[in-house]
Amino acid sequence: MVPPPPEILARDAADPLAAVRERFHLPDGLIYLDGNSLGPAPVAVFSELQRAIADEWAVDLIASWNTAGWFALPRTLGARLAPLIGAGDDEVLVCDTVSINLYKCLHAALALQPDRHVLVAEQAGFPTDLYIASGVAAARPGLVTRLQGRDGETLEELIDGDTAVVLVNQVDYRTGALRDMAALTECAHAAGAVILWDLCHSAGIMPIALSDCSADFAVGCTYKYLNGGPGAPGFLYAARAHHGDLVQPLTGWWSHAEPFAFASGYTPAAGIAAMLTGTQPILSMRALVAALDAFEGVDLAVVRQKSMALTDLFVALVEERCAGHGLKLAAPRDAEQRGSQVSFRHAKGYAIVRAMIDRGVVGDFRAPDILRFGFAPLYIGFADVWNAVEVMRKVMETGAWETPAYANRPAVT
Ligand SMILES: Cc1ncc(COP(=O)(O)O)c(C=O)c1O
Repeated sequence: MVPPPPEILARDAADPLAAVRERFHLPDGLIYLDGNSLGPAPVAVFSELQRAIADEWAVDLIASWNTAGWFALPRTLGARLAPLIGAGDDEVLVCDTVSINLYKCLHAALALQPDRHVLVAEQAGFPTDLYIASGVAAARPGLVTRLQGRDGETLEELIDGDTAVVLVNQVDYRTGALRDMAALTECAHAAGAVILWDLCHSAGIMPIALSDCSADFAVGCTYKYLNGGPGAPGFLYAARAHHGDLVQPLTGWWSHAEPFAFASGYTPAAGIAAMLTGTQPILSMRALVAALDAFEGVDLAVVRQKSMALTDLFVALVEERCAGHGLKLAAPRDAEQRGSQVSFRHAKGYAIVRAMIDRGVVGDFRAPDILRFGFAPLYIGFADVWNAVEVMRKVMETGAWETPAYANRPAVT
């Protein structure tokens, strides 16, 4: 393998985020390009989890709901996350899963639009978005779904005076294509529609301006670029302007105005708390508290600059050093138009990704033919990009992917 040339090493030496890498536990010798699926473990999480178990659970036990602030965690963590997505302190909850939050937010958004009957979404959106949308449609007779990719080429042409809600991913999970949040939100509002953003592939990797764009709702996960750990809770955002009118279907006791009155009748809580449902995974939330420490002092504008530089370098190196092996860029070529992942298409994509993983470069595969590589600037450097491409070049040149073992796929790809 060719070692990184001096100009690549110089870029790492000049990187203002280089020291942040120490905030993460990364196995020696591994180049981890899958932080867009599951972020690595932040070092601070180990001691925080031990502390929460040893002090709060083991000793203070049930008193911790009050003394350790467990009950308030969805709101306090939401306030902690809010600046990372450009929201106000009281506009974000950390709770449940993305799918569940989507269900609640879609219903809440539709409830704001009783005279409209169309939901606009993307056929190529993350499948759970569509599955949840069909579950919502089943509960709301008369709701019609229009899909970009099936009913029209662009979202904009599908949005009209009948549109109640637009559900859209800020970054496409397959291609990495990035939407213009300000422009699309304005387009939805101009038609009188409400917009709901899925931020799973953008939160923690770029500045997001939900409030400045006047976005209505958003959901996202904390296990990718926010490094909250496997199964970490999701988050939801509801603009303050809608807080007086939040109606959602999963009206569990945590969303009650007085949960500990144990009243038999339901009265929703005021504000964002109306979007809660029930008891939350407190240890996972504790892990997330510590994981978010990794963002202390980090400017997301600097993260975005480095992210664009890393992905530009990866595209250029793959196209130059792996030329002639049938890899086709599936991501937008212009860094301004993509998130922090780069995807290539190849008919043998699954086997190539497996061969790279066996050689210490972890990316992932998305059916039918996408090789996907995520670049998280908090812990990935320019030499990592060079070395990852060297491994890819070796795999392509030697045909290492043609191993029979790579014909079988495990349950999770
Ligand atoms: C864009 C997007 N939306 C939604 C989800 C689903 O989230 P959950 O499994 O937490 O419900 C994912 C998961 O990877 C995703 O990438």
